[in-house]
Amino acid sequence: MKKSFIFIILLSFTVLAFLQSCKKDNNDQQTPAEYIATDASFAGFMSWSLDATNQGADPALGGAHAGNDSTVTRKVYFKNGQSLVNGSYPVGTIIVKHSDNPAQSVNEFTAMVKRGNNFNAAGGDWEWFMLNSDGSIAVDATSGMAMRGANLMNGMCIGCHQGASSKDYVYSK
Ligand code: HEC
Repeated sequence: MKKSFIFIILLSFTVLAFLQSCKKDNNDQQTPAEYIATDASFAGFMSWSLDATNQGADPALGGAHAGNDSTVTRKVYFKNGQSLVNGSYPVGTIIVKHSDNPAQSVNEFTAMVKRGNNFNAAGGDWEWFMLNSDGSIAVDATSGMAMRGANLMNGMCIGCHQGASSKDYVYSK
């Protein structure tokens, strides 16, 4: 009687440990510790979920994203239509924004990627990007450096997106 009781206890621990390890594997698959974007990460973004289309001035915007130009339309694409999960976006989330106008005097591609792994803990671990129209990461003509980083443009991106910190720095959703 006593022996079988101990056996059952041991068995339950084994089953629990097994279930726990499965759970961990699944989590690891869905949310890697760190996601480092490459050119390929943004490929085909125009066919992603178009979750916001804005036009005209927005007080939150000032002159950024050409928002002070009423001819400009601002489209925001979320890869896999990703939404907030318990208040933050999972590692690997990619959002691309395209601002342009019919005359094409404005044609700007920006992006933010949830990089994770304490990349920029004070700013939600987002990495900021300027892209070319095909989604490849833009290169600064003067410095020859890829236009990406936690503090891209001297912290201008994160500085303003701070205004959406309650939604993990994302304005559009
Ligand atoms: C002065 C404020 C301001 C600055 C500076 C700014 N943004 Fe934004 N950004 C916004 C607002 C407001 C939106 C919401 C969409 C809209 O209406 O244009 C937005 C939207 C975005 C989006 C779509 C996701 C979202 O938050 O809605 C991306 C991606 C983005 N910005 C990237 C950047 C990058 C990269 C930089 C720096 C190069 C930058 N932003 C600088 C205000 C700003």
